[in-house]
Formats: sequence, C-alpha cells, structure tokens
Amino acid sequence: MPNGIDLILADHQAVSAAFDAFESTLDATIVARIIDQLRAHDDAEHAALYPLAAIVLEDAALLDASLQAHAGVKRQIDHLRAQEGAPFVEAVAGLRALVDAHVADEEKRLLPALQAAATERQLDELGGRILQAKQRVG
Ligand SMILES: [Fe+2]
Ligand SMILES: [Fe+2]
Repeated sequence: MPNGIDLILADHQAVSAAFDAFESTLDATIVARIIDQLRAHDDAEHAALYPLAAIVLEDAALLDASLQAHAGVKRQIDHLRAQEGAPFVEAVAGLRALVDAHVADEEKRLLPALQAAATERQLDELGGRILQAKQRVG
C-alpha cells in the first residue's frame, strides 16, 4: 500500500504541473481537469487525511485553517466558472494563488507533523483510504 503522504504530495505536484500547462497554453480544457483534480483531492483529504490528523495531532487550529483554505478554493472555483476571457485567466491565477498557499502550508506544517507523529501502519492505512476516496469520485 502506498504511503498516504506520498499520495498527497503526488497530487500537489500534478495540480501544480497542470497550472503550469494552463499558463503556457491558456487552454481552458486544462482548467476543467484542474477542477476535477482539486475536487478529488478535497474529497480524499476530508475523508482520510484530516480525520487522521485530528486524531494524531490534536491541533484544532491547524485543522480549522486547512478546512477554511479548502472552502476558499471552492469559492474561487465557483467564481471562476462564471468568468470568460481575461477575467477567466485572472480567476485561474487567483485559484492558483490560493492552492499554492494552502499546499505550501500543508507541506510545511501538517504533513511533517503527521509524518513524525503517525505510525507506519497509520500512514499505510491513510494511503488505502485516499485511494478508496478517489475511486468513489472517479
Ligand atoms: Fe489540503
Ligand atoms: Fe493537499
């Protein structure tokens, strides 16, 4: 079973690469793919990552900040869907700024804390739950 933290990091890299691809091509179909990737990642983190972090870390403020960041990303996706042309490109840039900030925070605080505090077995189970959550979405 893949380690859950590695799966989360792989998702972060895939989304970042997709934003890069949009910035160099301005191909709107890439944005549809980014939105799907973000939705699947949001589902997996809510179903698996944050519940484990709640048990292992007991850091309510950190979890709350994460949930708020995810809510902000969802609001920006709703906003972006209503845009066209230059405002659309601007809204994608705004989405990327929100995603990048949250990913940087997650990789700096939550994931290292979880890596340190969780057992190997919990991280393997996290991997299994993330894959399951993704199958439900896909
Ligand atoms: Fe997150
Ligand atoms: Fe994440």
